[in-house]
Amino acid sequence: MTGLIAPHGGTLIKRALEGKEREEAAKRAEGLKTLKLTEREISDLEMIAIGGFSPLEGFMCKEDYHGVMDTMTLKNGLPWTIPVTLSTDKATGDSISVGEEVALTDGSGKVLGLIEVQEIFNHDKEKESLKVYGTTEDAHPGVAKVLEMGDTLIGGKISVIERPEHNDFGDERLDPEETRKLFKEKGWKRVVGFQTRNPIHRAHEYIQKCALETVDGLMIHPLVGETKAGDISATVRMDCYKALMDNYYPADRVALVVFPAAMRYAGPREAVFHALIRKNYGCTHFIVGRDHAGVGNYYGTFDAHFIFDEFDPAAIDISPMFFDYTFFCKKCGGMASFKSCPHDSEHHISLSGTKVREMLLNGEKPPAEFSRPEVAEILIKAMSK
Ligand code: ADX
Repeated sequence: MTGLIAPHGGTLIKRALEGKEREEAAKRAEGLKTLKLTEREISDLEMIAIGGFSPLEGFMCKEDYHGVMDTMTLKNGLPWTIPVTLSTDKATGDSISVGEEVALTDGSGKVLGLIEVQEIFNHDKEKESLKVYGTTEDAHPGVAKVLEMGDTLIGGKISVIERPEHNDFGDERLDPEETRKLFKEKGWKRVVGFQTRNPIHRAHEYIQKCALETVDGLMIHPLVGETKAGDISATVRMDCYKALMDNYYPADRVALVVFPAAMRYAGPREAVFHALIRKNYGCTHFIVGRDHAGVGNYYGTFDAHFIFDEFDPAAIDISPMFFDYTFFCKKCGGMASFKSCPHDSEHHISLSGTKVREMLLNGEKPPAEFSRPEVAEILIKAMSK
């Protein structure tokens, strides 16, 4: 259709209403029961509305929910690895009927959209924790979120009246339709997407540039939705990227775009989810490094690579680009990985997240081989506040 990779399922979903339809829905909403969405649900609503979660048109019904958990597929047979659900407490669930239209609001009560309630069913928290996150421990931030959610799930198609409001990253907030247009304008046929929730360090830059060597364009796509306590804020992370863009990245081959989804910390399953979503944004390739979307020691370093073997590559369509653990090697005199470097670890500059945090908190810059000084300065400043 456009010469770009097809969205997951073939069509870019659009659930944001416009014009008369939108006006009518807004009017109808005034007389409806309401469900207040959490921050995660609001970002999911936005992702569905803009087609980032294509082929999803709403919050999952029972068959999709269990299919995703049991076999990592939707009812229509497409691969999908993460439940996208809307929850409420049992009493509220009991007060709603199948077939009813319900208004979805943000925390302040502002109506964002409508859901056509198709199914009301049990939230199987234990199964979801085990299947999606691999543990039932509430120390896992993804599991903690599942446990916080309501006991009843409401499935159905949504229609969005009001996009969630954002006061940040105006220039970098592009919908899948817009990134697709951008790639087309730039003449990029092969585009690699990069997911990140951490401040950029040299290993990130290295794998981004290695990938860029073999494709036409790179979309750096930092997640700016909800993250766990302790993660560096999206504003600071974006400042780090912006500080590097002018001096270290070729402007005509790199796009910095924010990704409004919430982080799940589901490791391997989230790697597949992240890849499918970037396909919807028009990427043909997707970077998966070490412990992608991992947290603590819940996943093996390369589980997020192995999981792709469980799918038919044609059904995933976007090509994962796997990277081994990368670092600066003093003997090699450059960035390398365990795959490409023959030297012992004593020659490698690789710091743990805890160590880096400790240095930054003390106002100390990590070695330039680990973090570019421009980035270290921004992080030190942010952490001294
Ligand atoms: S993530 O939760 O979004 O995966 P992060 O922002 O740290 O966390 O990582 C972004 C991407 O870079 C992921 O694909 C991750 O696997 C990869 N990555 C991070 N650090 C390294 C490293 N030292 N070597 C190889 N890949 C890495």
